Amino acid sequence: MAVGKLQAPRGTFDVLPHDAQRRDRLVALSSEVLEGAGYAHAETPVFEDTAVFARGVGESTDIVQKEMFTFEDKGGRSLTLRPENTAGICRAYIEHGMHKLPQPVKLWSWGPFFRHEAPQAGRYRQFTQLDAEALGSDDPSLDAEMIVLLAQILERSGVKARLLLSSLGNAETRAEYGEELRAHLRAHESELSDDVRSRIDANPLRAFDSDHPGTRAAMAEAPRLMDRLDAEDTVHFAEVRALLEEAGCTYELDHTLVRGLDYYTRTVFEFASADLGAQSGVGGGGRYDGLVEKLGGPPTPGVGWAAGVERILLASQATTEGSAGTRAYVVVAKADERLRAFGLVNSLRAAGVTAEMEQAGRSFKGQMKQADRVGATHVVIVGDSLEVKDMHTGEQREVASLEDAVEAVGR
Ligand code: HAM
Repeated sequence: MAVGKLQAPRGTFDVLPHDAQRRDRLVALSSEVLEGAGYAHAETPVFEDTAVFARGVGESTDIVQKEMFTFEDKGGRSLTLRPENTAGICRAYIEHGMHKLPQPVKLWSWGPFFRHEAPQAGRYRQFTQLDAEALGSDDPSLDAEMIVLLAQILERSGVKARLLLSSLGNAETRAEYGEELRAHLRAHESELSDDVRSRIDANPLRAFDSDHPGTRAAMAEAPRLMDRLDAEDTVHFAEVRALLEEAGCTYELDHTLVRGLDYYTRTVFEFASADLGAQSGVGGGGRYDGLVEKLGGPPTPGVGWAAGVERILLASQATTEGSAGTRAYVVVAKADERLRAFGLVNSLRAAGVTAEMEQAGRSFKGQMKQADRVGATHVVIVGDSLEVKDMHTGEQREVASLEDAVEAVGR
């Protein structure tokens, strides 16, 4: 049977070595920044009970309504490939009784996420997020810490991004404001896009996200949630801002920032990069003080963010420096020395040296060329004699034994 051309599914991509190296470096850098601030690495499954996201992210969001990869397992359970991390982390926090640990519980993770969106540059159906969450405290210093840590990761990755900041207040404020906004939207119903009009009841805040001209004009005159915050939320937001200023973190207040997930309360933020075109959001997040309770846990405040690995790398202006360190290439000058060469490669690796040997039947000359190509700092020639060549200085000298060769390279 003829097989058609097989390709990676739409909206997905292969990570080839050059990209993999940049991704690994970004994860290592993020781990260093986050672990340095007391965040511990944790992982949750890539699929969860659909209810985790339906309840967590919100039934009226685009993510839940249109973008989830949902399937039934053989037992008839509805499962969903995770579109984001926060709901899964909260599920794990509840399941493992983490509220009994000293609070806040600070966690970070990274991995693949899935959204059925129309693919374009910077928007994929499988993408990678770096994620940080702090549960169990509503202290404003956590909001500020989160923002500062993401700013540091972006800066060290060579990404220039504006920080947009807002506060959505608490659930009651939002409910009251929602009524006020619905009235405003109904008064302008004829000017709105179909999509926004159909969601006046379910999710009026999303109207701020629309790029439909009529909707935008109507929203320019809309009441602002930031002007409706109650006394406590106002103080909380003022503290977050003061802490950011103390840390030298510049931000812009953006009262239209609503984010695409329903669980947010109080602080919300987004880093936007001009180098990304339409998909300008490199990372974003905020506080979600009601989410753990919504998923069946005790009332627990939380704050966090996620950043897109692919978007960070697209926006990154940093040039990729070649990997430093010692790298040996073992040249097999005589076919019957392959056993010895193989042993040497293993000894070099055991001594912590990156080492490879000839494995494609090249001639002596071809092997020296290959050593150059892989960026070897040292070549060990295994033949009648054993020789070590330093590729930087060009110096070549004979050594007496395999142990001496390992020592000469490893020095
Ligand atoms: P989000 O804004 O939906 O937030 O996603 C965070 C980041 O993931 C975005 O800024 C973007 O860089 C990346 N991203 C999202 N969708 C795609 C896509 N289709 N292709 C490529 N990159 C994408 C959240 O997911 C929240 N869970 C963040 C959070 C954590 N809030 C509190 N804690």
